[in-house]
Amino acid sequence: MSSLQGFLTVPGDKSISHRALIFSAFAEGRVQIDNLSPAHDVRSTADCLKKLGLTVVVREVNGIPSTIEIESGGITSLKEPSAVLDAGNSGTTMRLLAGLVAGRPFVSRFDGDESLRRRTMKRVIQPLSEMGARVRAAEDMYAPFEITGHQLYGKKFSLAVASAQVEACILLAGLQARGETVVTAPYTVRDHTRRMMSFLNVPFHSHERTIGVSCLTKPIAPYHVTVPSDISSAAFFMVAAALTPGSDLTLQAVGTNPGRTLIIDVLRSMGADIEIRNNRELCGEPVSDIRVRYRGPLSGVALRKEEIARGIDEIPILGLAGALSQGTFEVSGAEELRHKESDRIKALCANLLPAGVDVVEKPDGFVVTGKRSIPGGSAWSTKGDHRLAMTGMIASLVFEQAVEIDDPDCMSVSYPGFAADLTQVLSG
Ligand code: S3P
Repeated sequence: MSSLQGFLTVPGDKSISHRALIFSAFAEGRVQIDNLSPAHDVRSTADCLKKLGLTVVVREVNGIPSTIEIESGGITSLKEPSAVLDAGNSGTTMRLLAGLVAGRPFVSRFDGDESLRRRTMKRVIQPLSEMGARVRAAEDMYAPFEITGHQLYGKKFSLAVASAQVEACILLAGLQARGETVVTAPYTVRDHTRRMMSFLNVPFHSHERTIGVSCLTKPIAPYHVTVPSDISSAAFFMVAAALTPGSDLTLQAVGTNPGRTLIIDVLRSMGADIEIRNNRELCGEPVSDIRVRYRGPLSGVALRKEEIARGIDEIPILGLAGALSQGTFEVSGAEELRHKESDRIKALCANLLPAGVDVVEKPDGFVVTGKRSIPGGSAWSTKGDHRLAMTGMIASLVFEQAVEIDDPDCMSVSYPGFAADLTQVLSG
């Protein structure tokens, strides 16, 4: 089996890229974002902002979008989009932009691809309606839907699900509302929105899982953001290195926001050798180099509900680590995984089982009994879900035989260069 060696810088963080783009709508003047995520999801956000009247210029390096410049006239200069705001596969695009346009005096129509049309928008439509936006949606509150922006009124929200997307949506609306808007999440979620606001000098107050904003009284000053590397992309390499004898891989300048670092904590508690070095800050976000060295077989652990939000996107790849660990790897309280780009619990179990993994699906997670080796050689269905595709690529590496991935191209949703980067760090 080839080991993973050397140094790799994975592309810019998708969550931070979305926010860096969307906050430009509140700025007056020129905004520059470096190391923007090349994810198709992020391109969807940029395209929607163009439709709302911002001037967006993307600069490419080797054919990959890298730096973006935006000319913004401030929130009041947004205009009614003549075309549908197409969020593609991106829940973050749809949910955050819904909050942005909820306070604007025009009609915005939202839609997405087949997968996004199956993801509930009730969790944003409901609070935005309560704040005063007029939303026209089918009874089930799935996309497509239409928002007629209106005078918004601040409110207090206590979220039923630990969702950073919903928190950000409400805050973006709250920055345009009369009175104070306060959001409390049930568990720790990624706090990129609050860090971005702090970096851009947007006033807010926060305490633990609660954050409050009022109407923004003056435009955000022109800004320049450099986006850290995406820990959710780095996660695939971390697991691959932890499972592959002889590996010694350093992932550089990775964002280590405490709301995203479950992958590090879990791999360490499974016995992986992970060294966090060169801690620093980049535009208000913590950043580190992460060195992963193969140490030996991992041990199973149990993940519980209160931890899941800090690593919601990493559960599929952690499940793969569990399949090759000693003992039992268990995930519970993770029903949110059924509402992602695919039903990730069902799809992951359906791929692991025929590969020879001893896995049992549960309503809110799964239980894997680890084995020393997994035969593989089976079909791997991504369901169009980028994270399942990348999990399949790593499965091909660590199983006895490669799996057959039906739709590897869907990786572009978050990481178009994944296969090339994997090849780069694999030593013969
Ligand atoms: C995101 C939050 C998470 C995550 C998604 C990106 C964000 O979703 O799964 O990939 O940028 O806020 P939820 O907050 O809805 O769990």
